[in-house]
Amino acid sequence: MPLDILVGAQGGDEGKGRMVDLLAQKAGFVARYNGGDNAGHTVTVGKQTFKLHLVPSGLIHPHTIGVIGNGVVINPETLMNEIESLSRAGVTVNPQRLRISHAAHLITPGHRALDAAQEAARGRQAIGTTLRGIGPAYADKVTRQGLRVGQMLELPRFEAALKAHLHQVNERLTTIYSAEPLDVPAVTARYLEFAHQMLPYIAEVSHLLTEALRAGQRVLAEGAQGTLLDLDHGTYPFVTSSYPTAAGALLGLGLGVGCVERVVGVTKAFQTRVGAGPFPSELHGELAASLRGTGEHPWDEYGTTTGRPRRVGWLDMVLLRYSARINGLTELALTKLDILTGLDPLRICVAYRENNRQYTELPYGPDDIGAFQPVYEDLPGWRQELWQVRRWEDLPQEARSYILRVEELCGVPVRYVSVGPERDQVIEIG
Ligand code: GDP
Ligand code: IMO
Ligand code: MG
Repeated sequence: MPLDILVGAQGGDEGKGRMVDLLAQKAGFVARYNGGDNAGHTVTVGKQTFKLHLVPSGLIHPHTIGVIGNGVVINPETLMNEIESLSRAGVTVNPQRLRISHAAHLITPGHRALDAAQEAARGRQAIGTTLRGIGPAYADKVTRQGLRVGQMLELPRFEAALKAHLHQVNERLTTIYSAEPLDVPAVTARYLEFAHQMLPYIAEVSHLLTEALRAGQRVLAEGAQGTLLDLDHGTYPFVTSSYPTAAGALLGLGLGVGCVERVVGVTKAFQTRVGAGPFPSELHGELAASLRGTGEHPWDEYGTTTGRPRRVGWLDMVLLRYSARINGLTELALTKLDILTGLDPLRICVAYRENNRQYTELPYGPDDIGAFQPVYEDLPGWRQELWQVRRWEDLPQEARSYILRVEELCGVPVRYVSVGPERDQVIEIG
């Protein structure tokens, strides 16, 4: 029963989209299991660049079936727009190709308005959310007042539940946050329209995937966000509200533990983070500008969903080792190695220091690392452009040493090295 789980091994935007696109070649199903349209997954195929927020990235391949699991929160407007724009770009997404769990929760304009109001109220303590309503939608799920996709199967009851939700949100918006209330009849009318559009996509995802696995089909679980944004295992409270880690895949798709074959952790060759939160190996100034880029290239470090400049720094091996443990990684995919060309020396954070103590393991998880100083190991850089390299032996010797050192410090083999955003710009090892 071959289930492969692909997870972000850092703080999101590791290049999961492009790796899913690669692994989906051999998968029958590609399934999103967490998060919502806070995700932005990029797939570049020739002159076309796809930015996917809800539709699984593997659907760019015509042979795959996409699944959106119960662990996902869905903004129907984003979903319908995405389906339409993919169709315009030549990727057919219809109810035969995309199945959506009846148990996934819905995001409404109420959740978005609450996200904005709550972030504004946090002031300097703001999390820096994507303002997509993710936190409030999961909060409603946990407090058992969420709206589920399956409720759309019974329209009168869905309408009543939606109106009750919107009235309750309005109460909170006006009394707690002094914000503008939502137009309940207008939002209700739109959501009833979305319900009609979504009906043919609704499915029993757990059953569908388990049957596929039993029949020997390969299923690829596509994580959104990354390990450091995990609600339980990330840099709380600077996290998202779902479970991007490997365990989240089983929970968010309704699959048993026994079917997992590979857990692929995607990591950049350096570190980035968008939004607030601790970042011991963060860089500023010229080096940071060189890693981030100016924004002229599509792969420069500016958020796919929000356009915000990402914070950048040296690769943090303490965190990557932590990620290997939390996810049970069986292999690594190292992306954006090409961006390190020309930087010399290259640094890797191998430990943390605080006062006179040095740590190679996180003493109490990642949320308290803000006070730690990074301890670096320097490695020689290289000058050769890597975009054309497709074989391990054609990489500069310094690049191979860098990869081998990452592998050694992490204790997980590097199976893929990506040297550009294009579909074929990958070196497969072994
Ligand atoms: P995701 O959220 O993990 O799917 O990652 P994003 O799509 O948000 O951000 C990754 C960005 O890096 C995208 O613009 C990709 O096209 C780009 N990218 C991925 N791998 C590579 C690589 O190896 N080299 C370069 N230069 N860009 C890459
Ligand atoms: P992909 O799937 C990077 C971050 C936000 C913020 C925190 C909480 O493209 O890797 P939220 O809107 O989820 O409540 O915001 O999480 N965040 C991401 N950062 N990549 C993402 O997705 C992210 N999704 C959320 O910036 O710090
Ligand atoms: Mg992204």
